[in-house]
Amino acid sequence: MDKKLNEILNLVEVYIQEKQNKETWEPEKDWVSYSGPIFDTNEYKAAVKQLLSGWLIFGQQGRKFEIDFSKYLGKLHGVLTNSGSSANLLMVTATKSRKFAKQLKDGDKIITPVVCFPTTINPIIQNNLVPVFVDVELPSLNLDLDKVEEALKQDSSIRGIMFAHVLGNPPDMERLMSLIEKYDLVFLEDACDALGSYYDGKKLGSFGDMSTCSFFPAHHMTMGEGGFIATNSQKTRSILASFRDWGRACYCNSMKPGNVTSGTACGMRFNKWLPGLKDAVYDHRYVFDEIGYNLKPLDIQAAMGLEQLKKLPELDSARRKNWEYLRAVFEPYEEYFHMPIATEKADPCWFAFLLTIKENAPFTRFDIVNYLEEAKIQTRSYFSGNILAHPGYFHMAQEHGDMNMKFPNAQLVTTNSFFLGTYKGLTDEKLGYIEKTVNKFFESVK
Ligand SMILES: Cc1ncc(COP(=O)(O)O)c(C=O)c1O
Repeated sequence: MDKKLNEILNLVEVYIQEKQNKETWEPEKDWVSYSGPIFDTNEYKAAVKQLLSGWLIFGQQGRKFEIDFSKYLGKLHGVLTNSGSSANLLMVTATKSRKFAKQLKDGDKIITPVVCFPTTINPIIQNNLVPVFVDVELPSLNLDLDKVEEALKQDSSIRGIMFAHVLGNPPDMERLMSLIEKYDLVFLEDACDALGSYYDGKKLGSFGDMSTCSFFPAHHMTMGEGGFIATNSQKTRSILASFRDWGRACYCNSMKPGNVTSGTACGMRFNKWLPGLKDAVYDHRYVFDEIGYNLKPLDIQAAMGLEQLKKLPELDSARRKNWEYLRAVFEPYEEYFHMPIATEKADPCWFAFLLTIKENAPFTRFDIVNYLEEAKIQTRSYFSGNILAHPGYFHMAQEHGDMNMKFPNAQLVTTNSFFLGTYKGLTDEKLGYIEKTVNKFFESVK
């Protein structure tokens, strides 16, 4: 059987190599994607090998990934999930657990920027917490720390802060962390777009009480779908794992993943576990500590993730290099844009190259985006823009009065921001084509 498995894996290698060698790209005819998975044969072989092993659900690969990736972030513990959105949901849900040191209660307030990815803020609402929306600043689109401080001074019932670093670039973390300390806030850090980025030599994704990552294909590394929550607290890790695993009390999965029937982590699998039936001996595997979900990934995803982890340094350096290239392309047209630069003390591993068109520019976002897309260059909006402008959220907008007055920058982002990709798949040829196309657009503007 081992020989057959090796033959299969060799064939996978040959197939993928041949397929990738045959891939071509022609300007104007083929798309310049803004992002996508960068796999060689190793990710495919790891996935096939895991599938053929017959072990599908979260197990040894998942646990290994949790240990390795926590270490990579410089955190003590981590929980792997089936998406970044699930990671955010678990992160916020954990704050409601009676076991969480700074437990939040229904109605507690969390500061969050009004421009976001929806599943950064959705878990706040889904958990009966109240978002306190603040505007963003230009050109970074990060949450405006003046507005954050203003809100904290005015409202002593604010208990936490949750936001995403915008496309890898953090806000002034020194000021932010001092506000968090001063007001004793829970800090929920969405680092889904910020893997590989640093502030003052410290990795983004390592600042929060809990921090999340996403492994969706557009992100710095991928396992198809996937997400992660990192924390330094063993207790918080257990809460997160329980919510992920149906609310299960048993933590064998965290210690010794697999089909645990003997030698369990607590050594007391059959015991008097139930407060509601004190004398009954019950199986710990079916004792439920939290009102949980099932947000587990497959071990196939984790096996692919372990391969991607080895590639992170090269994937990250390509993003930095490509961002610099695009910065130089747009430099001559700087008068038309709010163009982000790295926050002081930050070293971003850019998720994308972000642009916000100034209000007096002689062209609209539609003009430039449509021009690029017609040339088969993918662009994207900065996620929701002002989330309160969307059909699912508009009912919450009324209490904020005139949104042009309260969130002027968010309104501008909604109509005027967009981004281009920076990922490793942007070869020199593709970048040269973007440059040529951008220059041609601006010739028509003059
Ligand atoms: C900032 C941010 N947070 C959360 C998510 C959700 O991640 P996922 O797509 O893995 O659910 C995304 C999405 O890509 C994101 O950009």
